[in-house]
Amino acid sequence: MKKPFWTDAVVYQIYPRSFCDSNGDGIGDIPGIISKLDYLKDLGVDILWLSPIYESPQFDIGYDISDYYKINPEYGTMEDFDRLLEEAKKRGIRIVMDLVANHTSDQHPWFKASKDKNSPYHDYYVWMDGKDGGKRPPNNWTSNFTGPAWTYVPEVGQWYLHIFSAEQPDLNWKNPKVLEEVENIIRFYLDKGVYGFRCDVINQIWKDSYEDSKRITPMARGNEFYLMKEGNHRMLRKIYDDVLSHYDDFVMIGETYNVDLENGKRFQENKELTMFFQFELANVRAFALPVFERPFSAKRFKEVAFKWQKAIEWPTNYLENHDQRRSINKFGDPKRYWKESGKALALFNLTLRGTPFVYQGEEIGMLDLPPRDPATSMDCSARMTNQLMTKMGFVKGLRKKMINLFDRDHARSPMQWNDGISAGFSSNENTWICANPNKNCINVALEEKDPDSILSFYRTLLAYRRKSPALQEGSFLEIETKGDLIAYRRKLGDEEILILLNLTKKKLRLPPFLRSIEGKLALSTREPGDDPTVLLPYEGRLIELA
Ligand code: GLC
Ligand code: CA
Repeated sequence: MKKPFWTDAVVYQIYPRSFCDSNGDGIGDIPGIISKLDYLKDLGVDILWLSPIYESPQFDIGYDISDYYKINPEYGTMEDFDRLLEEAKKRGIRIVMDLVANHTSDQHPWFKASKDKNSPYHDYYVWMDGKDGGKRPPNNWTSNFTGPAWTYVPEVGQWYLHIFSAEQPDLNWKNPKVLEEVENIIRFYLDKGVYGFRCDVINQIWKDSYEDSKRITPMARGNEFYLMKEGNHRMLRKIYDDVLSHYDDFVMIGETYNVDLENGKRFQENKELTMFFQFELANVRAFALPVFERPFSAKRFKEVAFKWQKAIEWPTNYLENHDQRRSINKFGDPKRYWKESGKALALFNLTLRGTPFVYQGEEIGMLDLPPRDPATSMDCSARMTNQLMTKMGFVKGLRKKMINLFDRDHARSPMQWNDGISAGFSSNENTWICANPNKNCINVALEEKDPDSILSFYRTLLAYRRKSPALQEGSFLEIETKGDLIAYRRKLGDEEILILLNLTKKKLRLPPFLRSIEGKLALSTREPGDDPTVLLPYEGRLIELA
């Protein structure tokens, strides 16, 4: 059997609004992406996942779609998109789109039509009568972005469900028409030459019932009624049977928040999803609520990553995306060991088993923005949390500090191409989010010239990976070590690779059984010290075993 294209592919995520602006309006666009395809080819990636580029009022930057069959005019036209597909194909790069199927925009014609109770579209969404003669929401669920998960519309006399913002009404998956619409969208883009989808919040689409939740939590209260329900598994399998099974080459990547091993395995074994994102590693520092964080522990990081490596048939690996802070800020050291920790994280992400994902800017070590006032954030969830915390009486300094821990603008600042105006992202000084002031030290142009840069390390590592069947498809063999030291092997046939990694600011001494191993040091994140039995801070070694 022909092996699927994604088994040895590396995915690069583009956040189109922030990648490259071709016409100087301060907003990234599709011609901008086309102009950087050679850069991406040289970097060594195979698949581009584009965050949503469909027509959208952009309340949640494209995760609120008003027409699935049109391109957001700020980004270009359908012709531009076709050209992107063509140009990518010429370079052997595949395009994967973002499928937002849990909700639409409140500006989608379906939603507008749904306000008429007699319209067939009424049942496309979850409209319900309120409690107490209609005055109170149908239940006590809260949205993922704070506040009630229901909004009342006087002209309808009913409430509609939105597990995100009120601008993102949930589709009613119990209506077979909704499934049919989504299947049509999938077909449309696969027929165009897209190679699949990253499926937004895809493990929450099926709402089992609309009972009150007994849990006390300010965010996503009620999700016990809609996280990974039987109906959810059924819908995904149906999409496979009806549509995907008729295509040769595709990948369905699930964004599956809170997924556990059991459901994860099921998604894959039953062909509901090709692969899925777990969030345990990304949230390894989370502490009860997103506004709290605990110190980074390399030991905990290792344990979580290894757990998924060992259990899942085909894992995904990622450290960043458009919803997360930059990985060097979260898991590394942005000050003293910026370069070393950037490379060490790359070594980890790109040598684990499964499909690796690199988020735009990660390959040059981009960092979070300086602390900012959440009231001015472009991220709707940061703004909404700020409103809630203001209402609850939190003082400004504290709000700023806490919300900065998850403000999604951090990952969404413009890609830093050079040290010019707006980091070379745009000819316009006023971009939709300002470029990070560190653009003079962190940018593509500078790092391209420097063989010791994070970017050069990515290129070398990706080229190495391409030639290494063990890294692409080999087994993952944990090496049990105490404490913070991270050690594992990748093996396929005769090829065997050992990874030794220190993700801390301290030196780590190798245990005796690892000191005597014979092999060739093929790659490292930094010049080793005088004593080879000691890993320096953020030192990582890729060793070819004899
Ligand atoms: C996903 C997206 C996020 C969006 C949310 C609602 O988590 O990654 O950006 O806000 O879904 O669509
Ligand atoms: Ca533009």
